[in-house]
Amino acid sequence: FSTGPDQQPGPGQVEPDIKQDYLMEFFIDTADINEIRELAATGLVDGVTTNPSLIAKSGRQFIEVIKEITEVVSGPVSAEVTSLKYEGMVEEGRKLAAIADNIVVKLPLTPDGLKACKTFSDEGISTNVTLCFSSAQALLAAKAGATYISPFIGRLDDLAQDGLLLISDILEIYSAYPDISTKVLVASTRSPLHIVEAAKMGADTATIPPAVLRAMFKHPLTDKGLEAFMADWEKTGQSIL
Ligand code: G3P
Repeated sequence: FSTGPDQQPGPGQVEPDIKQDYLMEFFIDTADINEIRELAATGLVDGVTTNPSLIAKSGRQFIEVIKEITEVVSGPVSAEVTSLKYEGMVEEGRKLAAIADNIVVKLPLTPDGLKACKTFSDEGISTNVTLCFSSAQALLAAKAGATYISPFIGRLDDLAQDGLLLISDILEIYSAYPDISTKVLVASTRSPLHIVEAAKMGADTATIPPAVLRAMFKHPLTDKGLEAFMADWEKTGQSIL
C-alpha cells in the first residue's frame, strides 16, 4: 500500500517505515563533489542535477565526475546531453544512462530534445527536460513522456516575469490529467523563498544550489536560542553522558 500521509494500514498489514516520498524531493544543483558529499551527509538530499555550465565550473572531466556523483548519491542524478541533434542526443544519452542506474538523461526543450525524450521514455530511461520557460513547453514535455520537467524560475524572475506563476500553471495543467506522471522539478532557484512557495503549491521536486540549501537551515533566533540554552546548561555543571 501507499505510504502517503492519509493511508492507514489495513487489517494484517504492518505499519510501513515512514518513507517521506510524499514530501517535496530536494535535489542539489551542482557538480562540485565536495559540496555533494557534505550535503548528502545530512540525509536530506534526494538527488543531484548538473548542466554543462556546472560541469565547466567543476573543472572536472564530465563522465568521471558524473560517475563519482552517482556513487555518492543513490537518488536521481541528471546528466545533460550536449548534442543538438536527435541522433547525437540518443547516442550520448545512452552512454550517460549506462554510467549508473540512477542516471537521468537531461535533454533541452527543443523538437529534437523532445523526440529523444520520447525515445528514452519508450525504452524506460529516465529523462529531465530542461530549459522550460512556458506552460506550452511543459505540456509538450509531458506528452513526450518526460520523467521530470525543469522550469527555470530564477531566470524568468530576472526578466521581471513571475517564475513561480509558471510553476503553479504547470501544476494546474498536469493535475487536470491524472495520468501524467511527469514531475515538476523547480529549477533555477535562487532563494529559500522560492523553495517554500513552490512547496506550498505542491511541486514534486526542487533543485537547489548548495548555498540556498544551507540558507534554508538558518534563522537568527535558532542561533540565539541555542546560545542561551548552552550558556544556561553550562551553569548547571551537568552532562548527559
Ligand atoms: O537547474 C537549472 C539551473 O542550473 C539553472 O540555474 O541559476 O543558472 O539560472 P541558474
